[in-house]
Amino acid sequence: MLLCSEKTPAWAGPRGLLQKRSRADSLNAGLSQHTACLRPCPFGRDGHAVSIPLRLSPHTFFDMADQESVTELTTDKASIKARGLEGVIALESELSSIDGDKGQLIYRGYDIHDLADHASFEEVVYLLRHGELPAQSELDDFSSHLRSERALPAPILNLLRETPADAHPMAVLRTAVSALALYDEEADTMEEAANHRKADRILAQIPTIIAAFDRLRKDKEPVAPLDHGSMAHNFLYMLNGEKPGAAAEDTFDVCLVLHADHGLNASTFTSRVIGSTLSDMYSAVSGSVGALKGRLHGGANQEVMRMLLDIDAKGADPTSYIRDRLDADERVMGFGHRVYNTMDPRAAILRTMVKELSEEAGDMKWYEYTTKIHETMTEETGIDPNVDFFSGPTYYQLGLDPDLFTTIFALSRTAGWTAHLLEQWADNRLIRPRAQYVGARDRTVTPIAER
Ligand code: COA
Repeated sequence: MLLCSEKTPAWAGPRGLLQKRSRADSLNAGLSQHTACLRPCPFGRDGHAVSIPLRLSPHTFFDMADQESVTELTTDKASIKARGLEGVIALESELSSIDGDKGQLIYRGYDIHDLADHASFEEVVYLLRHGELPAQSELDDFSSHLRSERALPAPILNLLRETPADAHPMAVLRTAVSALALYDEEADTMEEAANHRKADRILAQIPTIIAAFDRLRKDKEPVAPLDHGSMAHNFLYMLNGEKPGAAAEDTFDVCLVLHADHGLNASTFTSRVIGSTLSDMYSAVSGSVGALKGRLHGGANQEVMRMLLDIDAKGADPTSYIRDRLDADERVMGFGHRVYNTMDPRAAILRTMVKELSEEAGDMKWYEYTTKIHETMTEETGIDPNVDFFSGPTYYQLGLDPDLFTTIFALSRTAGWTAHLLEQWADNRLIRPRAQYVGARDRTVTPIAER
């Protein structure tokens, strides 16, 4: 069991490498090669601390030569400083895994390409939650329960009616998810079965919130959810007031599959941190919606579309547009990733979707713009596109407004957030890292009249 991944840089300290190296070496001298136990860790199944085999040699888990990453080390505790927590393994999970070098994403052992081709979103939610793909009868029961939870409590609809029409849909979703707790008698019940029911409820109601708010802000009445059909079908129906075509439903369903989980990303970590305090599922999911809203995370897909629309409106050449951005030291949204060192496998699937949707529409411009931008970024920076680069134009071609894009991401990722919460609570330990204090010390208070 490792505390840090191999990529994790390491031990060094504010007070000098040599000092750290000798402290680490002397520690190692007294510890067996494989079982150096430095601190209790959260993985003890019965609630007891277990050992982390953490070796303090430059040849093992940590690179002693990287002074920047290290803080302090004592004989009974180790502290690792990794800016942005890069490379730190904070917990164990059986839900999903990313191989950043191969560009591979798996959910519970299944490759994302396989799932996108052969499983519906509901099957994937079941898989994440229960560890196995459902048999037909299990899927029928699960889907039927999700459908039964689609309607919103009346006060939530009233809240949406009172919400300013120009509010960002992610801010509305964050608020509405939090408010849902007020109308759920089980909100604070922490039994596993109640938490599964809440996970279903939140997942089923989020599409209704998004669609209802979108219609209300356009002076249209919300459309009541269907008591049949998939989540993809029902969402597009509630949004547009008419049943979607099979192709649109399928495309949307695959988008949901692709976004359902993604390791310990920022919003999932948020859920697990909140859950680890034994706060409730609504608190955790509303916190995750807040984390996803940021443009370095889920908010990037809206920014990508804004950029494509800007290129289109100005009649700009996409290549020069991107070069100008890079020359101005600006980030190009939809590119780069903390974990992938190659193309995000979800982006590869979505790129094909952008192409197919453009062909169907008989207008290749969005595909051409994205292709040129991709080529330019490869030439100029070598940075690969991530999922948001192609999901933006996919959703746009499905007729969604750009400021709804991140809510779709949230809809899907709720599957992951809630599955992670259930996993966290099955073997909980408070997630509580430390900050390295770099502020002043030894000051005394000057009376206010003398300041
Ligand atoms: N455009 C231009 N340069 C980028 C870039 C982008 N999208 N993403 C990363 N870089 C550059 C940074 O400027 C930095 O260069 P520097 O070392 O010369 O300063 C380097 O690549 C490393 O970036 P850093 O921010 O340290 O990586 P990170 O792991 O902390 O960030 C992201 C990961 C996703 C936040 C980052 O790639 C980004 O901001 N992307 C755009 C937002 C986005 O698409 N988010 C969705 C992620 S799924």
